[in-house]
Amino acid sequence: MKALVLSGGAGTRLRPITHTSAKQLVPVANKPVLFYGLEAIADAGITEVGVVVGDTADEIRKAVGDGSAFGLEVTYIRQDAPLGLAHAVRVAREFLGDDDFVMYLGDNFIVGGVTELVDSFRTERPDAHILLTPVLDPSAFGVAELDAEGRVSALVEKPEHPKSDLALVGVYLFTPAIHDAVLAIKPSWRGELEITHAIQWLIDEGRDVRSTTISGYWKDTGNVTDMLEVNRSVLETVVPDVLGTVDADSEIIGRVRIEKGARITGSRVVGPAIIGADAVITDSYVGPFTSISEGCHISDSEVEYTIILQNSALTGVRRVEASLIGRDVQVTPAPRNPSAHRFVLGDHSKVQISS
Ligand code: G1P
Repeated sequence: MKALVLSGGAGTRLRPITHTSAKQLVPVANKPVLFYGLEAIADAGITEVGVVVGDTADEIRKAVGDGSAFGLEVTYIRQDAPLGLAHAVRVAREFLGDDDFVMYLGDNFIVGGVTELVDSFRTERPDAHILLTPVLDPSAFGVAELDAEGRVSALVEKPEHPKSDLALVGVYLFTPAIHDAVLAIKPSWRGELEITHAIQWLIDEGRDVRSTTISGYWKDTGNVTDMLEVNRSVLETVVPDVLGTVDADSEIIGRVRIEKGARITGSRVVGPAIIGADAVITDSYVGPFTSISEGCHISDSEVEYTIILQNSALTGVRRVEASLIGRDVQVTPAPRNPSAHRFVLGDHSKVQISS
């Protein structure tokens, strides 16, 4: 069995964080969401992985390399234009050969991995097996309708009026039967060859398409509340360790991971939390469910339930909560006179002030 990991896409979706980088590299607990998928694939006993890349190929290659860090053998497959998930399967035809495969969308996050699913697919081998999850905004997804026996009767891509709240999760298990399906379909209204249509084609052909409904699913839809929540749940499982330095005036409480080169002085860090490599925390409080990335500087500040990306700084700021702060951002108090808020905010920023 092989894996096909989709890491293409234009990378220009106007979301606060994916604005300037590949959506598959959005970090959860300081680790790109794509890495959790690659780890789940390795855990399921799969080693041959095709990574489909597009415009952001360089960034993805830089992050994943040859896959050996994950125990995988990665082959990069170029998709020249984002023409859809079924198009990606077409492009990967040679790599996939006649093997069964799991197709994994690199921007999807599934709590608990896919080992059990892959194992049962290996033994039962239906033509395809899809994963579903209840969501609040089904019209942003492919949506499944189930019949009275719970079998998938129809799949609709981004329906205006969804008939259920069951979204297609971006992990699909396929036998080579999918190759006929991806050749049989036509582009959708958005000009893409939809995998949803290919699976519908299998259903129409009377093929065996099964589904499992899961919980613990996340993808970055630009919803910061969801992102903070997935960060929270992953931090609960982070392996605590102190690889950096903590001075005698600091206190580290609970599940806290402090990466190499990080320095904590005169501060209190209450887990679960992660402090990235070379970050410097001085005279500050870092509270539960906080991920501070590599190279950040937090001084004379308080921060809790927040994600801060690489090389950002909080200086004299009390107190930051439930926030998502991008890369190379600086937050400082405004001068006392004139008393005013002063912002330099990028596109799509959202600010809530406490006064
Ligand atoms: C794609 C699929 C959709 C699925 C979603 C999961 O949507 O077309 O059916 O529910 O992934 O991430 P897209 O990311 O292309 O909007």
